[in-house]
Amino acid sequence: MWFRDVATLWGLAALVASSPLASVENVNRRQGTPTPTLEPCAQVSVILNPTGVPTDNPRPTEVPAEIAYQCLISIPLNVTSAKAILFELPLYLNWQSTLGALKDPPPEYVEKIQDPVDILAGLDAISALIDQEYISDEWSFGWALYKLLGAAHDGHLAYVLDVVGEVFSFTRPLPLVSVSEDGSKLPAVFAYTDILGLQFKNISYAPSAIVKIDDQDASAFLEDLSQQGSLQDRDALYNNLFYNLAQISLGTGGSGLGGFTGAGRGRYVPLNANTTLEFANGTKLTIVNTAKSYFNFQNVTSGADLRRKIVFDEDSDAKLRPEVIPPASAPPELNQAAAPPLGYPAPVVPGPQNLINGFYIDGPGYENVAVLQVPSFVSSSYAELAFQVTSQKFLQKAWSEGKTKLIIDLQANGGGTILQGYDLFKQLFPTLDPYGGSRFRYNLALDLIGQAFSGAVGQSPRDAGLKNITLRSIQSSYFDYHTDQTADGKPFDSWAQKVGPNTARKGKKISRVSLPTLTRADNYTSISRWNTTDIYIPYQAGINITDFSNQTRWKSEDIVLLTDGYCASTCSIFAELMTQQGHVRTIALGGRSNANRIQAVGGVKGANIYQWAFIQQYAAQAIYLNNTFQTSALKEYNSGKALGRSYGNGINVRDAVRSDDDSGIALQFKYEEADCRLYFTPEMTVSVTAIWKAAADALWSDPSKCVGNVGYYNPSNARRAAQGKTTTLSPARGQMRGAQALRQMKAFEDTFSLATNCKSEARDGFMPPC
Ligand SMILES: *[C@@H]1O[C@H](CO)[C@@H](O)[C@H](O)[C@H]1NC(C)=O
Ligand SMILES: *[C@@H]1O[C@H](CO)[C@@H](O)[C@H](O)[C@H]1NC(C)=O
Ligand SMILES: *[C@@H]1O[C@H](CO)[C@@H](O)[C@H](O)[C@H]1NC(C)=O
Ligand SMILES: *[C@@H]1O[C@H](CO)[C@@H](O)[C@H](O)[C@H]1NC(C)=O
Ligand SMILES: *[C@@H]1O[C@H](CO)[C@@H](O)[C@H](O)[C@H]1NC(C)=O
Ligand SMILES: *[C@@H]1O[C@H](CO)[C@@H](O)[C@H](O)[C@H]1NC(C)=O
Ligand SMILES: *[C@@H]1O[C@H](CO)[C@@H](O)[C@H](O)[C@H]1NC(C)=O
Ligand SMILES: *[C@@H]1O[C@H](CO)[C@@H](O)[C@H](O)[C@H]1NC(C)=O
Ligand SMILES: *[C@@H]1O[C@H](CO)[C@@H](O)[C@H](O)[C@H]1NC(C)=O
Ligand SMILES: *[C@@H]1O[C@H](CO)[C@@H](O)[C@H](O)[C@H]1NC(C)=O
Ligand SMILES: *[C@@H]1O[C@H](CO)[C@@H](O)[C@H](O)[C@H]1NC(C)=O
Repeated sequence: MWFRDVATLWGLAALVASSPLASVENVNRRQGTPTPTLEPCAQVSVILNPTGVPTDNPRPTEVPAEIAYQCLISIPLNVTSAKAILFELPLYLNWQSTLGALKDPPPEYVEKIQDPVDILAGLDAISALIDQEYISDEWSFGWALYKLLGAAHDGHLAYVLDVVGEVFSFTRPLPLVSVSEDGSKLPAVFAYTDILGLQFKNISYAPSAIVKIDDQDASAFLEDLSQQGSLQDRDALYNNLFYNLAQISLGTGGSGLGGFTGAGRGRYVPLNANTTLEFANGTKLTIVNTAKSYFNFQNVTSGADLRRKIVFDEDSDAKLRPEVIPPASAPPELNQAAAPPLGYPAPVVPGPQNLINGFYIDGPGYENVAVLQVPSFVSSSYAELAFQVTSQKFLQKAWSEGKTKLIIDLQANGGGTILQGYDLFKQLFPTLDPYGGSRFRYNLALDLIGQAFSGAVGQSPRDAGLKNITLRSIQSSYFDYHTDQTADGKPFDSWAQKVGPNTARKGKKISRVSLPTLTRADNYTSISRWNTTDIYIPYQAGINITDFSNQTRWKSEDIVLLTDGYCASTCSIFAELMTQQGHVRTIALGGRSNANRIQAVGGVKGANIYQWAFIQQYAAQAIYLNNTFQTSALKEYNSGKALGRSYGNGINVRDAVRSDDDSGIALQFKYEEADCRLYFTPEMTVSVTAIWKAAADALWSDPSKCVGNVGYYNPSNARRAAQGKTTTLSPARGQMRGAQALRQMKAFEDTFSLATNCKSEARDGFMPPC
């Protein structure tokens, strides 16, 4: 009974028991293949290898979505392998800082953010589903795991099984946007191609809103779909379904064309054969869904055969390798500027690879506004110094050229290097000491690693010039207690002091007296804070933290953080410092089609991601340093079944906690509204300048422009709820803007083939896009 509930909860039963997708026979007719009994994976092979013989000529890379799905669910489950993975997962999940809190989160989180999830119980439920033969294929197993961890809505937490991530990427080939006609009416959803035509005056009809998708109310369909994403905030999740200039500016490092098209984590979500859109004017449009394959499927005859060729366990041949797609152009120098992003003006101070750029706003009325666009906190060590130098140069230049207002545009920022967030904060508030408290969830492996590291190498001198890289990396890790400082800025005295364990509330050291109340609560390490002057900082961040001045340039009220809710990881750390200590205001863009206030930081607020392999490596290193741990809990990490079958993984190891917050609640569970909300308008989806102008207006000249029933800037003049809903957009007036406009429109259309690089490395404070 209990597992049935869980299965229903994740929609597992539906996925496993009855496929909603087209039958193989139908598919065959449509493809014109004369062999209706061919196994689905063999059909894929035929489609991808039409000549039947190996060839170096370009081959098709896409198959109809429903054949791809049928192929995936025809891969028989190796129960031994699955059970071994289920057995190992808790070793890593124990490091998830929110593991206990997710099971029993604060009421505010349940009411406004997401449902609770008991992840360890979920693993048992999946195990039971296997025993009951509800789950009997590899993909359904991987998908159940993926959905279970996804229910945490923690962008740092994921486990993507090989068959889920490695074989197909599902696509709906039509990007959408959600826009308000005038920035005041409720937004509605449009095909992005309509908006392009409208903006470049290339269409004569009035674009009509999408009111139904596959016969469901469009907003409801999209809100549901958005839950497949990795963010926690529902408005941020909704935004992430759509085409967004800032995501596009990140190229393959961003989340592409939006979740509706299958970008980002959307690529794992299996699709029906087609998707039908119904417009407000009554027109219907059916788009055919596809799946892109990373393998050429040569000679694959069945699901079992595919398994042998791609899954690395004992019986596998592991012969198929993903297609190596040659880069369109030579790899760019990672520390150099690239061409300005589509929809952006030319930067005044360009940074490396569009990871950061400084702009001024063209046009009367905005002469005093500078925009630092920061869609990343760097994920490449090559760009770290160039990233810092860009903001140093731009802020200095903008100030000296009379820019008295500063917009920090954080749209699409999934984070990167933690200390780069501290650095930017220090550049803006040099006299403030960044707090940034964090804690691990106490677990035995963590304690043993700390004992080994602090015991064996903690006593060796710390030396910036150290030649022994192993020693340096151990000494600069969290597990040497000399790294970091206490909540009140003092050195830790010992590993025992750093590790605690403590209760969540008030960080009190656990005592016998408090035991009875602790039965359900997790225990945590002591709050620790980065020591920004530690000599090992350059090894962590690629830079020294800026400390050149003690003069604050812009006042708090002259700076604003602008987000689309997709602000995660290091971005959330930066936003916390800027708002709590810098008292800077926030503007959040977009959101669901309502007039409520929304959050600015909608992505993971955890303070650190580890790749699972990192934990395994630490455990091995600890045993090496102190061989009395050979027989300890650390030896469990030797087995690599879960890691060996992982396409991608991550774990959020640290909670971020606010200074002087006695509640013990991690920031991840807090709901915090932005100071102002603005809807996207059609123009904002092709020109970022329109966004910056609206932000500057709302903040510094006309607060009533902020949407929402509560007026922040002027409560007595609280804005009426947005009136009406946009259903059609006024037809384009005037002449087509000529060859240049068409070229620009073509450039947007070219981005429709943009694919996200899902193998991008998870850095210390980065939420991978998929
Ligand atoms: C199933 O997995 C186990 C454990 O990885 C392995 O020993 C066995 O060979 C696998 N069986 C098949 C048929 O792949
Ligand atoms: C835009 O207009 C030009 C000129 O009429 C036409 O060639 C082009 O196909 C149009 N583009 C789209 C996307 O409709
Ligand atoms: C209805 O709206 C859609 C979407 O904007 C458009 O493609 C179509 O041409 C419109 N149909 C009519 C009859 O106006
Ligand atoms: C859409 O897919 C369904 C099967 O799911 C099929 O019956 C229908 O013919 C398809 N429609 C179009 C227009 O391709
Ligand atoms: C597929 O089979 C053909 C014919 O036997 C062989 O030449 C080719 O190497 C095989 N390809 C792969 C990837 O196994
Ligand atoms: C190994 O760890 C144990 C337990 O913390 C400790 O007593 C012992 O001194 C350590 N040995 C070394 C060589 O550091
Ligand atoms: C580097 O330091 C590690 C850890 O203390 C030690 O095991 C190793 O022998 C050192 N390597 C060299 C070359 O000194
Ligand atoms: C927290 O620590 C107490 C005391 O050591 C222990 O009884 C309790 O089980 C711990 N909680 C968890 C979730 O490990
Ligand atoms: C921070 O690191 C510096 C340089 O290693 C050190 O002098 C200082 O004592 C550390 N501060 C704390 C609070 O540990
Ligand atoms: C950081 O500062 C130290 C001491 O001033 C200097 O030796 C080092 O080169 C600096 N590193 C970077 C990456 O700037
Ligand atoms: C910081 O302020 C102090 C006192 O106002 C001043 O003496 C010092 O020169 C300033 N330092 C820098 C680097 O600006």
